[in-house]
Parts: sequence; C-alpha cells; structure tokens
Amino acid sequence: MEPEQITQDGAEAPQAAGAAKKVFVKTYGCQMNVYDSQRMSDALAADGYVATSVMEEADLVLLNTCHIREKAAEKVYSELGRIRDLKAERARNGDEMLIGVAGCVAQAEGREIIRRAPAVDLVIGPQTYHRLPDALKKARGGEKVVETDYALEDKFDHLPQPRRADVISRGVTAFLTVQEGCDKFCTFCVVPYTRGSEVSRSVAQIVAEAERLAAAGVREVTLLGQNVNAWHGEGPDGSEWGLGRLLFRLAEIPGLSRLRYTTSHPRDMDDELIAAHRDLPSLMPYLHLPVQAGSDRILKAMNRKHTAADYLRLIERIRAARPDIAMSGDFIVGFPGETDADFEDTMELVRAVDYAQAFSFKYSPRPGTPGAEMDGHVAEAVKDERLQRLQALLNEQQNAFLASLVGTTIETLIEKPGRQAGQIVGRSPWLQPVILDEKAGRIGDIVSARITNTGHASLFAERA
Ligand code: SAH
Ligand code: SF4
Ligand code: F3S
Repeated sequence: MEPEQITQDGAEAPQAAGAAKKVFVKTYGCQMNVYDSQRMSDALAADGYVATSVMEEADLVLLNTCHIREKAAEKVYSELGRIRDLKAERARNGDEMLIGVAGCVAQAEGREIIRRAPAVDLVIGPQTYHRLPDALKKARGGEKVVETDYALEDKFDHLPQPRRADVISRGVTAFLTVQEGCDKFCTFCVVPYTRGSEVSRSVAQIVAEAERLAAAGVREVTLLGQNVNAWHGEGPDGSEWGLGRLLFRLAEIPGLSRLRYTTSHPRDMDDELIAAHRDLPSLMPYLHLPVQAGSDRILKAMNRKHTAADYLRLIERIRAARPDIAMSGDFIVGFPGETDADFEDTMELVRAVDYAQAFSFKYSPRPGTPGAEMDGHVAEAVKDERLQRLQALLNEQQNAFLASLVGTTIETLIEKPGRQAGQIVGRSPWLQPVILDEKAGRIGDIVSARITNTGHASLFAERA
C-alpha cells in the first residue's frame, strides 16, 4: 500500500527527444494504480509524451491518487500545493506546465479538486483513462477538464498496449488488471464509489495481454482486481469461467513461470480456485485474503457477509490443498462500535491463522460511506493502542515466518540489481526480497537459493 513512483526512463522517445513533451507520473495507493499509471503512460507515449523522473522539467505532471483513507487523500493536496509553485515558476519562464489528477480522489471529488486547487487543469477518473489524450488536448487549449462519468465503452478496448521496449524496461514481473470495481459495499470502504461496480475483462483480452507480457520476457504476472476472485468470463467453449479456470489457462503460457492474484475476498474463494492452488505449481503459495476483523458483530457491521469461523474454515481448506501456502491479510482497528472484547477477537483470529505478512490500519471515516454515519466512533488514542498491539503480534508472526526459512532452499526469481554494489535482488515465492551475490544469476532467472539470514522483511541467501 506504499506510495510508489513510476519513473520509466524516456529511452523510447517516439520523436526526436528535443521535440517531445515530457510527463512525470506519481502514483499513490494500490497495485491497480501502479498498473493504471503504466497504461496511462502507454496512452501518453502514443500521444508523443516521453516519461521523465524529474518533475521540474515536465510539461505534464500527473498524480494518480488514492482515496482509501483520509491521510492518503490529503497527501494529494499538499503535493498539489508544491506543484502549483513549480507551475508558477515555469510560467514566469514562459513555459506551460499542465497538472492532471487521476485515480480515486479524482473520481470521488471531481470538480471540487479544481475548486480547492485551481492550478489543476485536468481531473480524470479511472474509467475514462482512454480519453486522456483528448482531455489533454482540451486542457492545452485552456479549458479546465473534468472527466469522471462512468464510460459506456470499455476503456481496455481503447487503451493502447504497451510497446515491447516499455514492457522490457518495467522488469520481469508485471501486473495485469482482470477485474475492476466492487459490488460488496463494505461499510467502511470508498472503492465501490471510486471504481464503480464489478466489471470483468474478457478471457481473450487477458490471455492476449499475458502472452504479450511473456513474449517480452515477463516471468511473473500478478492478476489484479479489487475483488479479483469475483472475476468471471466466458471461455472459448462458451462456458462460464471463474478465476481458478483462468489461472489454469494462463499457466499454459510458455515463459510465465509464476502467477499470483490480489486482492481476493473470502466470499469468492470457490472450489476451482482452491484446486488451482493444489494443482498449479506456477501459482505461488501466497494468498492475500483480507478479513478486517475477528469479531462477528463487527464483521456484520462492516457488511463483510461472513463470520470469523467461516474465514478460519476457509483457510483450513486452502491449507489442506496447498500446505506451504503463506497467508497475508488486511485489518482495520477501531471500526465504530468496536469494544475491547471485539478487538480481542481480532487478536485471537490472528493467533489462529498465523500470518506471514499483513497490513493493518486505523479506521478512517470516509465521506459518503455508511460507517462514517454510525454511532460509537472509537477514540483516536484507543485506535492507536489497538493498532500497536495488533502490529506487534503481526510483526512477531512475520519474523517467525522469515526465521523459519533460514537454512531452507527456495526458488527465487531474480528481479533487479541490489542497492549495494555486487548484489542482486530476487523475489521469494512469498514475495520477500531475496538478496544474493550478483553472480548468482541474471535478471529473469529462477534460481535455487539457500537462505542464510533474515533482514527487515527480507532474506539473505546464497546460490544453492
Ligand atoms: N478489495 C480489498 C481491499 C481494498 S482496500 C478487499 O476487499 O479486501 C485495502 C484495505 O484498506 C482494506 O482491506 C482495508 O483493510 C483498508 N481500508 C479500506 N477502507 C478503510 C478505511 N475507511 N479505514 C481504514 N482502512 C481501510
Ligand atoms: Fe472495499 Fe469491501 Fe469492496 Fe474490498 S470488498 S473493495 S473492502 S467494499
Ligand atoms: Fe486507493 Fe483507489 Fe486503490 S482508493 S487503494 S487507489 S482502488
């Protein structure tokens, strides 16, 4: 969930470098925003823009924003203040700089963004990214553009595919959105409002995109969706496929050695998906399955539509199918009405599951969601205390998981050069960075690595 910055170099300028316009993209929020930023960059490349990692020299600064918690949304406005000053300075030198806001804040707040930050030229929601080049044309003509209608056409039919060179420059792992939006309406969550209702991409589109990625050297693909396991589509034989069936199909693509998917909802883990974990060696033994809370009363108030016992039984079934699977989750502490006893139920559930990794947050009331209107808001100090206790337990479990790997030999996908000279960084089946000597292999290789030591959320290893 950490903010990430997309900084492709501009090596593939479609025109002479001097003539090309430059775009700086900054990405906040979840993996889907990372994927979207790439697709917007692809659309902009087709429109003559070259990516830059230097905001000061950009002709277009595009913020791809996140609305999930108040802090995430407010970060955008402080960044816009800084960019406004830069834009004014550029204007004094006779240069034009456009500011665009995309993503979930754009969808949720629309024109309000321009009211609060008048330097913004363009606001564009996630369903209309294919209209970005047109919107920019209008913005360059001096118009303030707000594109937040849910488009009738499928944006994926209109967004250009990345150029092979861009895929290569992005590395050997890639994201691929297969499903977008959410119909679950958990009472704390803005996503159904910012991403709209659940839409699945077609089997043909997904397979074609995965094949293109594999052909450009991608070894690991993570399928993305707000509710990725609610994905469904019509297979070539006319029958209805679920995510499990899709994974079986993608596992046939030569070169794609590793598959993952995120984020899944406990209610949509069906038998075929569990069978995929049992039968597909390329489906990595790691599952992010958020539960949010361990108290049935709070789960009900959150509208999660399952109990703590349902969740535990589900994990039992998944572990029976794939015993080495590592679990990850998301938790919210201090949802309205959460008592000490409710919170203890969350701690109990965490002890019962034993997570390899997890994300935990203090409840943040979001405008327009039912949770924000509920009684019994929990004091900030209580949320702080609960979060600390929960995170201490989760950290303990994460460290124990890492420690259990020392001395074992694991398959590692080599991804990128390390921070220190002479090192190379790979990725374990459970997503941890694995730090190796650079002679251990080349980027894109999957090598056997013997774990020698643990770092902070990372592993040190030598070639086995
Ligand atoms: N679709 C995913 C989660 C999307 S949001 C799912 O259903 O699990 C990612 C995480 O942010 C959520 O799992 C939740 O733990 C957290 N989150 C969402 N809304 C929040 C809020 N209002 N306050 C605090 N955390 C929140
Ligand atoms: Fe939000 Fe719930 Fe939908 Fe996940 S399932 S995106 S938490 S509403
Ligand atoms: Fe944030 Fe939107 Fe993702 S609110 S978490 S960027 S779906």
